[in-house]
Amino acid sequence: GVKREESFLEISSLEELAARAGACSRCRLRSGCRQVVFGEGDQKADLMLVGEGPGQVEDEQGRPFVGPAGQLLDRILEACAIRRDEVYITNIVKCRPPGNRLPNPDEVAACRGWLEAQIRLMSPRIIVCLGLLATRTVIEAKATMAGIHGQWFKRGDVWMMAVYHPAALLRDPRLKRPAWEDFKLIRDKYQQLKRG
Ligand code: URA
Repeated sequence: GVKREESFLEISSLEELAARAGACSRCRLRSGCRQVVFGEGDQKADLMLVGEGPGQVEDEQGRPFVGPAGQLLDRILEACAIRRDEVYITNIVKCRPPGNRLPNPDEVAACRGWLEAQIRLMSPRIIVCLGLLATRTVIEAKATMAGIHGQWFKRGDVWMMAVYHPAALLRDPRLKRPAWEDFKLIRDKYQQLKRG
């Protein structure tokens, strides 16, 4: 069975959290992947990007968004004049699902405590959900991408927005236009918050 999430409230640093996640066996995904892909970037980042889960290249390299979708994300960030090392990038599940299948709800539930603790320890000002799984897990359980992308949601001090996943843009180039419009809103909000 899959263990229930816990919120790791006793953990007070991201390093300690990453070490604990590296030893995680809370669901079946860990036994089918090479390594835990915890996340990377500036721990004090104002902007956190949350994807779905590691793919093949991420599983090999131990870093999020370094495969084809990641290369497109890099270009989008560059077009927004945002450096990859000034943001923090992570995923809903930290272990690669077999064959890149969608993570199951029980795997999402088992893993979500890690993301919640990452958010608590880093307190980003903006959380961008890349794709529907992150959107449904973080913003709104019943969301559709067409219905929710490009809108700001504010929870406490945190601004959140859903955008199409870079992998979806690679499959369907027609989504590049709305994604770019959304990223311009994110860029503007990010610049505003930095100045404020
Ligand atoms: N797709 C994701 O959702 N996350 C990654 O880290 C890579 C590809």
